[in-house]
Amino acid sequence: MADKKAKNSNLTKAKNAKNDEFYTQYHDIEKEINAYLDYDANIFRGKTILLPCDDPEWSNFTKYFAQNFENFGIKKLISTSYAPDSKKYKGGYQPTLFETSDPKFDEKKTITKGKIFTLTHDKTGDGIIDIDDLEWSYLKGDGDFNSKEIIKLRDEADIIITNPPFSLFRDFFAWIVEAEKKFLIIGNINAITYRELFPFIQQNKVWLGATNFNTGMYFRVPKDFKYAKSYKFEKEQNGEKVNRVPGVCWFTNIDHGRRHQPLPLMTMNDNLRYSKHKEIKGKEYRKYDNYDAIDVPFTDSIPSDYDGVMGVPITFIDKYCPEQFEIIWRGGDIEWAENECDFFTPPNIERATEYKKQDKTWRIQNPYLLTNGKVKTVYQRILIKAKR
Ligand SMILES: C[S@@+](CC[C@H](N)C(=O)[O-])C[C@H]1O[C@@H](n2cnc3c(N)ncnc32)[C@H](O)[C@@H]1O
Repeated sequence: MADKKAKNSNLTKAKNAKNDEFYTQYHDIEKEINAYLDYDANIFRGKTILLPCDDPEWSNFTKYFAQNFENFGIKKLISTSYAPDSKKYKGGYQPTLFETSDPKFDEKKTITKGKIFTLTHDKTGDGIIDIDDLEWSYLKGDGDFNSKEIIKLRDEADIIITNPPFSLFRDFFAWIVEAEKKFLIIGNINAITYRELFPFIQQNKVWLGATNFNTGMYFRVPKDFKYAKSYKFEKEQNGEKVNRVPGVCWFTNIDHGRRHQPLPLMTMNDNLRYSKHKEIKGKEYRKYDNYDAIDVPFTDSIPSDYDGVMGVPITFIDKYCPEQFEIIWRGGDIEWAENECDFFTPPNIERATEYKKQDKTWRIQNPYLLTNGKVKTVYQRILIKAKR
């Protein structure tokens, strides 16, 4: 049994390590960045941009910003990589020809040190500043984003952009907000409910990027990447091995236009009459038993004329317009419910014991509905209210 557990844990570690080596595609970066440029064409002008957790020799982030360096008016581009020896994923590392053909190449350092690529001026003298003008060297350390060396670069930067290692998302997020810089990073929609992230979303200090996450995102993956048995999406794009990851989104504190577009909604009466959802049409909006709030199971069913609190799915965040709604908190946070929420009424002990008997996973803090004494928990709800 213990062996089985250890084996499973090793498998999970190996899987997580591989998931850290997912490389972002050029067109996904371009599409997302265009939304910020549409909103403010000078967003990068005179700015120092740091791309940490990158692999500058083949990263599309480095390529994209180096190619657009002049166009965007960037002051300085810095891109850093993590030493192959320090990576959890141990796929046969081969230095690139770019590195081995450079007099600076060092057989030991290429494995044990991170690298830094910098772009500031026209090194080649061909009259343009672009990818050919990148200058590189080995870092003193391994390029860990949490090392002093990279923290110094973070503090020098105005904007930080990357797809951080999936397994370290929480740490990376804490690292980035601590610096109080503008940022744009890739993560998973489920991270919204993390204790570390949710307060920033609620306070409108962090929001989702412009690319709608519903379609999932394809990432380039290592050659030895093994697909899950259930995987039924494309495995190759533009001649490269790819894997589709559902629920991937961008988190940012840089403004873009999409988030200021209010959701087009129907009134409660119209929803009950015309909704495309059978759960709404001809039914009613039900109130939770433990919160004075109605349950809205679909974002497009939010009634435009309801003034009270509404529990909506977390995917609402993708459509969240701060001028239209205020986020009160997330359902399921016991500390908040008990200490701060003035519309939370937990059941008494007898009823709580009965509900627990009906459903072992039932908790007083999770919004739940009661039908003829039968309890049904509604997970992952964000509590919102219309702004009038
Ligand atoms: C999801 S990949 C993304 C790479 C690149 N930014 C891109 O999108 O194409 C994350 C990268 O971070 C590296 N990494 C893992 N742990 C790290 C750490 N502690 N510090 C810096 N980089 C790390 C991984 O090895 C991997 O190369």
